[in-house]
Order: sequence, then C-alpha cells, then structure tokens
Amino acid sequence: MAGMVVHGAQWGDEGKGKIVDLLTERADLIVRFHGGNNAGHTLVVDGEKTVLHLIPSGILHAGKRCVIGAGVVLDPGVFLAEADKLTAKGVDMSPARLAVSYRTHVIMPYHNLLDSAREAAKAGSKIGTTGRGIGPCYEDKASRIGIRAGDFLDEALLERKVAAALPEKNALLAGLYGLEPLELSKVMEAVLPLARRVAPHVQDVPAMIQECLAQGKGVLFEGAQGTHLDIDHGTYPFVTSSSCLAGNAAAGSGASVRDLGEVISVVKAYTTRVGSGPFPTELSCADGEHLQSVGAEFGATTGRKRRCGWQDMPVLREAVRLNGTTSLAVTKLDVLGGLKELKICVAYRFQGGELLYPPQQEGALAHVEPVYETLPGWSEDVSACRSMAELPQAARNYLRRMEELSGAPVGIVSVGPGREQTIFPG
Ligand code: GTP
Repeated sequence: MAGMVVHGAQWGDEGKGKIVDLLTERADLIVRFHGGNNAGHTLVVDGEKTVLHLIPSGILHAGKRCVIGAGVVLDPGVFLAEADKLTAKGVDMSPARLAVSYRTHVIMPYHNLLDSAREAAKAGSKIGTTGRGIGPCYEDKASRIGIRAGDFLDEALLERKVAAALPEKNALLAGLYGLEPLELSKVMEAVLPLARRVAPHVQDVPAMIQECLAQGKGVLFEGAQGTHLDIDHGTYPFVTSSSCLAGNAAAGSGASVRDLGEVISVVKAYTTRVGSGPFPTELSCADGEHLQSVGAEFGATTGRKRRCGWQDMPVLREAVRLNGTTSLAVTKLDVLGGLKELKICVAYRFQGGELLYPPQQEGALAHVEPVYETLPGWSEDVSACRSMAELPQAARNYLRRMEELSGAPVGIVSVGPGREQTIFPG
C-alpha cells in the first residue's frame, strides 16, 4: 500500500482523530507532518476518552509505530507529559514505537512567552492563536535560528544555539512587552532535563518512512487543523502557522509526493469554526444552537465554544481541489438528527455573480452571501446505524447530495464518536 493522507477539509475539528484511529488498522507507521500541540484529537476506544495533542493517534494501536516529522513543531514538555500519561495507561512509549525527526523544530520557553504576549497586546485584532508558541517557533525556523530535536543529541551545540537566539528574544520580551528577560542558564535548566528524555526518540524519520513503503507496508499521514486554516490557502490571516494540505504530508515528513496514494478528506456533516475569521454559513439561530449543543462543539485544546453553521460546498469544493481528495469521510452525521430541514450552501453570491469556490482576495469571504438548497431532515437517531441501508432515506439523500456537489465520493460515514459507530458505504 502507498501512503494514505487523512486531513481536515474545513476549519479543523472535523473529527480526524477518530478517522485516523480507524484507518490505523491498515497502516504500520503513522506520521504527523505539521502543526504542534494546537491540534486536539479526541479518541474514544471502548468508551474510554483520550485526548492527544502531539503524539499521533495511532499510538493507541499496539504494534504500530508513530513518528513526528520535520514539519511539526514539538513542545518537549507537552510531548513527555502526553507520553507519561499514555505509559500510565499501559501504552508502550519506547523509542521503538515513537520517533521524532532530527529536523523537527522545538518550541522553547521564549516561544510560549512571545506568543501569549503578542496576542495579549493585539486587543481588538486577535487571530485566535492558542498561545502555545507554535507561530514563534515556525518564525525561528524560517529565520534559520530554530532549535531542532537533533540538537538535543549535542548539548554544547544546543546551548550555543540558545545563546545566539536569546538576545533578540529578550529585546522583544523586555523591550516591547515589558516582561522579564530570560537568562541562558535558566532556559538551559528548564530545557535540558526534557531534552535528555526526548533524545532517545530522535531518529532518521525519512529513512523509516521509505523503508516501510519499500517493504509494502502502509504509512498513514495524519493531518491536523484543516484546509481553510492552511497558512497559504486558508482564510489568511485567520489561519494556523503551517501548511495543512495533503501535499505537505510529503514535505513535512520526508516522504516523496509519489508516496501519497489515497487522500481522505475529513468533513463534518455541517461546519464549525473556532476563533475569529469569516464563516459564511454561520448560524445564530436555534439550528446553530442545536449543532453546538448536540455536537458538543467545544475545542479539545482550548475548551472554546465552536461557531456552527450549515454545510458549505464552496469550502468543501476548494478542499477537494487543493488536496486531490480521493474520498470523503463525513463525520457527525448523527448530530443533524432532529432538525426538520437541512440547508447546504451550494454557491456564494458575490459582486453580482455566483461563485462555486471561495473568492481569492483576502477578506472577501466575509462579504459573500450563501446560496442555499434546502433538504428534508430526519428525526431518527442514526447513531446505531451500521450500514447505508439502515440510515433514513433523508440521510442517504443528504450524503448523496454532498457527493454530487463536491465531486468526491463518500468512503466513510461516522455516526458517533466510537470506533464501531462507522459506516463504510462500499
Ligand atoms: P483537530 O486536529 O484539532 O482539528 O481535531 P479533530 O479533527 O481530531 O477533531 P476533535 O477530535 O477535536 O473533535 C471531534 C469531536 O467529535 C471529538 O469529541 C470526537 O469524539 C467527536 N466525534 C468524532 N466523530 C463523531 C461522530 O460521528 N459523531 C459524534 N457525535 N461525535 C463525533
């Protein structure tokens, strides 16, 4: 089997964690290729809930290996806390099962401080960062002053690099934000114990991926956030600081683009968004409240209430086009149950015309007007359905319409958080 990418088609929180967890059965190696601990995958296995922010969800499957690729930014404290929690649950977290690329950039204490200070200083124009140092870490990567996991294997080099980075960080922390400057010795004191524990996990990730593929084994690339939070193609500036597209599964891990076979785009049966930014189909009526409360739409990482709205086809079409979707995994179909009518936004009205895709100009998405098609809803609880035939006709129609309007086939339908609450239309 070639590589399989599982990624988000909307603004994140599509339920990728469950889909990755399901498809892990078909893979030997599970790879994270971008983002950091701003992702929040919630997995429910045998009724037990586990939230993972950094470690690939595949770790819950005994015998599977998980890797963190070069495109990820790793907070060593979060990584180790998550690993310790899983160890306590009896999960094998040895370096044989969990590898970090030499080239993965590391979130340092000054990244977290800068992130929070900056967001606090923005007052009215916040972009809704999670304040975890992710953006500042990617900035250092681009500025060629980043600390990488491979540096943990050479403590003298690590100290030299931190010493070189600190003056500029302190100029910002103290000069611009009025915070205490950081001392090199204190930073090293905080980082070294973590570095020593992460070091055994540092391995040649591109080689691991290539070896796995050469042996005909499956590799699953696990995306975080979603297409419309992509740094290049998302609703800039209300985006995340990495590329969330399927194409980055190659660049962010060290696989080649020819290794990416299947692209599974995870899409909720409706739309949600956390934080600021344009959201054409957002609802502020009782239907929106239904989606928010029945869907339990609170962020796994921040606990923030998610904004909710109808399914948005221009958003989904753009995701299908940008990612090369081979199939859709539609999640949370159960949440729509009980709504009398369902709306799908099939196009946008914009500047006197109709658009099938989001407008390209920055900010223009805030000025489109959704063109809706109305479909009958269903009152049945579909969470116990295990085949398409068991779904109410209206639910089947809704899924068929999503296929027709997006141009991508539905390969998976999720009707509840549990592994077993899944339909493979076949
Ligand atoms: P990010 O990487 O942060 O974007 O997260 P994610 O895409 O993995 O989504 P997340 O796990 O944060 O949110 C999905 C939530 O929906 C979790 O609480 C899941 O347990 C739950 N969930 C997943 N699939 C379904 C489903 O089909 N129905 C219902 N009711 N809940 C689901």
